[in-house]
This record gives sequence, C-alpha cells and structure tokens, in this order.
Amino acid sequence: MPIDASTLDPDPLRQLGAWVDDAGRAGAVLPNAFALATADDTGAPSVRFVLLRGLDAEGLRYFTYRGSRKGRDVAINPWASAAFWWPALDRQARVSGSIRLLSDEESLAYWRTRPRGSQLSASASAQGQEIGSRHELEVRVAELAARHPGVVPLPPMWGGYLIVPRIVEFWESRSDRLHDRIEYRRGGDGTWLPRRLQP
Ligand SMILES: Cc1cc2nc3c(=O)[nH]c(=O)nc-3n(C[C@H](O)[C@H](O)[C@H](O)COP(=O)(O)O)c2cc1C
Repeated sequence: MPIDASTLDPDPLRQLGAWVDDAGRAGAVLPNAFALATADDTGAPSVRFVLLRGLDAEGLRYFTYRGSRKGRDVAINPWASAAFWWPALDRQARVSGSIRLLSDEESLAYWRTRPRGSQLSASASAQGQEIGSRHELEVRVAELAARHPGVVPLPPMWGGYLIVPRIVEFWESRSDRLHDRIEYRRGGDGTWLPRRLQP
C-alpha cells in the first residue's frame, strides 16, 4: 500500500519500528543500522553508521565510546541526524533531533547483554585515537581478559545516547522517481503533525 499520512502510524516512532521490522523480514542483514550525523563546534559535519539498540516513544538509543568523535561532537553540540536505508524495500527513513546521554544504569544494563569478546574489545579501545599496530590492541585485550576473568566492568567512557526526535521522515520509492515523502514534526504540545513533501 502506498504511504500516506492515513496509511502510516500516527506515531512516527512506532512507524519507524515497523519499517525496521519489515526490513528484517525482507532479509536485511542489519535492518537496525543507521547513518548518524553529528557536527562539531564549527558546524563541520561527520557521519558514520551505528546500530539502533532501542526504540520507543522517547526516541532512538545507540551506544558508543564517549570520547569518540561523535561523542565529543554531541558533548558540545547536542544535535544529531539519522538516516536508515533499506534497499530491499526501497525505503529510507530520516530522524533529526536533540541528543541526551543515557544514565549509567541504562548503559550498564545494555553493556551486560554484550558478548564478553565485544566487552573486552570496547574496553581495550579508546575509539578514534591513533595506535601503532593491531598487535598493541590484541595485547591490551589479552591483559584485560586476564584481569577480568569474570565480569568485564563498564568502561567509564562508554555508554548510550538517546536521540529525541523533532522530525521524522518516511520516503518510499515510486515509479518514475515520483516518490512518496511523509514528514512528521513534533508540535509544542508533543503531538506529531504529518505533511507530504515533494520528492
Ligand atoms: C553497520 C555498522 C554498525 C556500527 N555500529 C556501531 C555502534 O553501534 N557503535 C559504535 O561506536 N560504532 C559503530 N560502528 C563503527 C562506526 O561506524 C565508527 O567507525 C566508530 O563509531 C567511530 O566513529 P567516530 O570516530 O566518528 O566517532 C558501526 C559500523 C558499521 C559499519
């Protein structure tokens, strides 16, 4: 069914979740991967993929090293934009909004769900800083594994973020590239207002 404000969920975050699920059913390898754009204090943008690890009425959650470029960007400029693309369905969704840090409790709860190997790798890596060789990283991982034979503690600089959406846009391919675009903007009272955009 072609998309329209009447065929999409009135809550665009629920609709986004439905599209992620649709992409998974359509065979997408990582239906929850999205490009995350941030900008530094001069306005210079940077973009990279991250994984959506939570989606509810509050927004989109992802996890990373807080000393990374994206972590430093949002510490001084707490705004972000996200784009999903699901080629099998010829759909795109975009989200933009403000960024909040997740609590230590929430970061820890997610950290505990991660495989031990991922925990050790994240603990060994000051993401984005230069290192002389891969060997140095592997030595660090081995040292951490020996130091923490049981639980691997949550690294102090690692944690989650919440994108609090202000704009969510759904794009779906149509014939002759006369595509459908439905954009939702959050009004002052928190309600979502949809409108159709030209493709
Ligand atoms: C599909 C995919 C998913 C990724 N997911 C994450 C993620 O959830 N968190 C993360 O820190 N990096 C993730 N990465 C790595 C980031 O793209 C990026 O290389 C890293 O976070 C450093 O980015 P920065 O230097 O701009 O902060 C992912 C990469 C790919 C290709």
